[in-house]
Amino acid sequence: MTGPVVQPRPTTQVHAATVRDKADPCTMVIFGALGDLSRRKLLPAIYSLMKEHLVDEKFCVLGVGRDPREAACTTDDDFREYMRKALTESDELHGVDEELWQDLCARLRFVSADLTKPEDYQLIGTKLEEIERGRPREDCNRLFYLAVPPSIFEPIVKNLSASGLAPRTRVADARPWIRVVIEKPFGRSLESAQRLNDLVLGLFAEHQTFRIDHYLGKETVQNVLVLRFANSIFEPIWNRQWVNHIQITAAEDVGVGTRGRYYEEAGVVRDMFQNHLLQLLALTAMEPPAQMSANSVRDEKVKVLKSIRWMTPESIPKNTVRAQYTAGVIDNQGVPGYTQEKDVAPNSIMPTFAAVRLYVDNWRWNGVPFYLRSGKRLAKRVSEIAVQFRTPPHLMFGSETSEAMRPNTLVMRVQPNEGVSLNFEVKVPGAAVALTSAVEIAPVAMEFNYTEAFGETTAPAYETLLLDVMIGEATLFTRSDEVEAAWRVVDPLIRFWEESKPKRMPTYAAGSWGPREADELIEEDHVEWREP
Ligand code: BG6
Repeated sequence: MTGPVVQPRPTTQVHAATVRDKADPCTMVIFGALGDLSRRKLLPAIYSLMKEHLVDEKFCVLGVGRDPREAACTTDDDFREYMRKALTESDELHGVDEELWQDLCARLRFVSADLTKPEDYQLIGTKLEEIERGRPREDCNRLFYLAVPPSIFEPIVKNLSASGLAPRTRVADARPWIRVVIEKPFGRSLESAQRLNDLVLGLFAEHQTFRIDHYLGKETVQNVLVLRFANSIFEPIWNRQWVNHIQITAAEDVGVGTRGRYYEEAGVVRDMFQNHLLQLLALTAMEPPAQMSANSVRDEKVKVLKSIRWMTPESIPKNTVRAQYTAGVIDNQGVPGYTQEKDVAPNSIMPTFAAVRLYVDNWRWNGVPFYLRSGKRLAKRVSEIAVQFRTPPHLMFGSETSEAMRPNTLVMRVQPNEGVSLNFEVKVPGAAVALTSAVEIAPVAMEFNYTEAFGETTAPAYETLLLDVMIGEATLFTRSDEVEAAWRVVDPLIRFWEESKPKRMPTYAAGSWGPREADELIEEDHVEWREP
């Protein structure tokens, strides 16, 4: 008799909703557990993973933080109460199931600690030992999540390593594993990112380090690779011969809200371009990877980032536009301008919008412009990648018709209304004329919509990313060289803008699609921004 058939774990991991591995047992230690990210994203993601039975029975959360309020959160029960409230208020969950909450509640622990003090790590160690007591050693996996401001990344990783709580491991599949998740922003310039990489990689191995860019956790972003490489019809036309240009938009209708202090240090290029937009560009432009494995995918992305034409003080004014929002109206409500926001200097010249024309100087994309734009307080929240193909080489349907024809465009809608559409021209029926004379032509679209096709909205990014860390799957995290390659692209622009302060910052009214200068930038190429 033969033994039971063991299904091998797929070595080629496609992140499809239907193929989801269950996580290894582990304790997730959240540094900054009382902060915004933990409340708004991490706990709801953990709740959802539990709902889908994707975390292990032994999974626990150890919250670490310090509550400055008088009635501070200090005990496990305080933390549980705090998190219960966070789940109830979460806009990512539709209510909290009592039975599931009881299960999660029993797994939540807390320790009040100042993460910049080495001695406080003993408290964390004692609590971790309590949690791990009686467990087989190979189940004592630890996931340290740095949900803290970047200014304290350095002391935390140093203390974490010196405390012995997170030893470096040589091989990726050693058990128990130790993994460290670092939130964005990873550095604030190429130099600081390199310094942080040196520090982190001096203490932990690359396979232990998970740098977050939450855009990569979005289902629609992962779909870019599936759309490109699981279909044969796109690849032959995915190049300079067929593509006229590519537009990548990440527009937000929200302002900086309560994050004025952070934003005054960051601005739109550090906040959105260095990470999210360049990741979208890299996935759209990269070559097929040798395999769908973390290193193969990241190798290809790095190659694209390295092929982006270097920006210089001469090329920057011709290829970029920066601007800041002024007061305006969004959803029939008056909203303040950037310089009236909380914690923003009244004379701030920090850009909240940027539009950039980039070129990827390689065999596939030579000469094809990539237009990237992102801004806060724009007309609506929409992120998308639009690949606009060339017009047919010869149009023979009469001059009026030909002028009205729109080029074919493939749009990958990242959010909202997640999906893909392809537009093409068709003959309007009924016109009683022969094809030889002028015919009426109209654009139509072939639509794929996630909700209609799969009957559910896509999983929030953090759910996917947390599960991947617990599985040890690093494809959706940025590797050290990738982060640096992305900084290398934006660093000259940030430096140029910081050094050549404009006399007057170009502005756009909140609720618009950005400044006039952004339209002019691409009109030079006889192109218009899409209004999604
Ligand atoms: C974050 C930025 O990385 O992404 C925020 O710091 C921005 O400023 C956010 O609002 C946008 O993410 P999403 O998922 O809402 O598009």
